[in-house]
Amino acid sequence: MEQQPLAQRLALQREYMEKTSQLLSRRYEHPPLALVHSFGCQQNQSDGEKLRGMLAAMGYGFTDRPEQADLVLYNTCAVRENAEDRVLGNVGALKPLKKQRPEMLIGLCGCMMQQEQMAERIRKSYPYVDLVFGTHALYQLPELLFRRLSGEKRQFRGGGEGEIIEGLPLCREGRIKGNLPIMYGCDNFCSYCIVPYVRGRERSRRPGDILAEARQLVAEGYKEITLLGQNVNSYGKGLEPPVNFAQLLCQVAQLPGEFVVRFMTSHPKDCTRELIDTIAQCEKICNHIHLPVQSGSDRILKRMNRRYTVEHYLELIAYARQQIPGVTFSSDIIVGFPGETYEDFLGTLELVRRVRYSTLYTFLYSRRSGTPAAQLEDPVPSEEKSRWFQQLLDAESSIRDQLQQAQVGRVERVLAEGPGRTGEGWLCGRNFSNDIVEFPGSPALVGQFLDVRIERAQNWALFGSLV
Ligand code: 5AD
Ligand code: SF4
Repeated sequence: MEQQPLAQRLALQREYMEKTSQLLSRRYEHPPLALVHSFGCQQNQSDGEKLRGMLAAMGYGFTDRPEQADLVLYNTCAVRENAEDRVLGNVGALKPLKKQRPEMLIGLCGCMMQQEQMAERIRKSYPYVDLVFGTHALYQLPELLFRRLSGEKRQFRGGGEGEIIEGLPLCREGRIKGNLPIMYGCDNFCSYCIVPYVRGRERSRRPGDILAEARQLVAEGYKEITLLGQNVNSYGKGLEPPVNFAQLLCQVAQLPGEFVVRFMTSHPKDCTRELIDTIAQCEKICNHIHLPVQSGSDRILKRMNRRYTVEHYLELIAYARQQIPGVTFSSDIIVGFPGETYEDFLGTLELVRRVRYSTLYTFLYSRRSGTPAAQLEDPVPSEEKSRWFQQLLDAESSIRDQLQQAQVGRVERVLAEGPGRTGEGWLCGRNFSNDIVEFPGSPALVGQFLDVRIERAQNWALFGSLV
């Protein structure tokens, strides 16, 4: 069946939003409550804000307690098996609630549900789940909800091509830090990764739409804007007139107002000197680059289809250090990729020691069916991989200790985000390197940029006092 044009499909969803809103106000005396939880990456968190936006427009309020919720919606992540297991565990835990209150609706959406075999598994093994829809059907929530609320059978919606959908209502999670997606999908097909299969081909939003959203965030008082994409460095492909990521970043950073800009994720193969120069030149862009290396062995990088070498990566780091005073780096690393040897792993360890990341996100390789790496032989036993993993964690923690100790005595600019973990009277925020900083201060300071003198460092945070 031929699909209708996008504008018509969106208009249809707006009608469903209106109809659902009327149905809910007839059915409930008070606004019904929804629990929306997004697992996984920031892109998924950002999708969650659209789900919340649509629900709010239909009259839902929000809760984080499942026993209060009239609708529980889990926006799922498929990047590793343990993320999927967590979702399924959470869904299992809802079964007794659904038994007590059969009118409560349960919905599952996002990356896991974009996979046909997973949607099928939910159909067969989780009969109490009411709505199942993938990443490309996110905007169809109003219709699926309306159908189910009106007594139709369980709703499943898969497939789709993944278009750019502008103008959905948004209900953001925070008031200080805002996510701003600049592109969707990924074309890189790293051999271990499920993302290109569940989020579709790479497509970039128009700069005008991005800048308008950035302006609005600043006008609403947001102090930190994070530009999001699976590979922001390839932003702009196919756009007319042509624009690249460095140019877009610069345009966002030049908007008037007091705020800072971050971005993620950068792919080393597309990270340009122009981008690094832009970070160096624009004061509002944080001096921190998340540049996932994945492995420190050229042999493994090749098998991962990453399309850069360790040498190229280290050149980028060296150039950034030369151009951007005080720049810090973070990275993602996978341990135990199929066929990785201890020698390959030692290459990763060596690279980590050379770059000295301020933060590392480390993952044990997880086999994702449908990806090329799932076909590769994987002879190393998991206990062995876990030993390597621990070695990496030890190296990381000792480097982080040293980097944090080196900050003691310095004055850092910190965006105050909310109450601290230390106790009453403490605030917590992040410096430009994204380190957590705790300091005594009044709650009235939340949302402001403050100068904090760092007095001590302790594993998870830096501690100091206001200058
Ligand atoms: N197994 C382990 N880690 C993975 N990642 C992506 N796919 C897998 C996988 N199959 C990691 C990569 C990526 C981060 C978001 O998740 O390091 O950068
Ligand atoms: Fe996955 Fe590679 Fe795309 Fe990142 S760049 S989402 S790791 S395929």
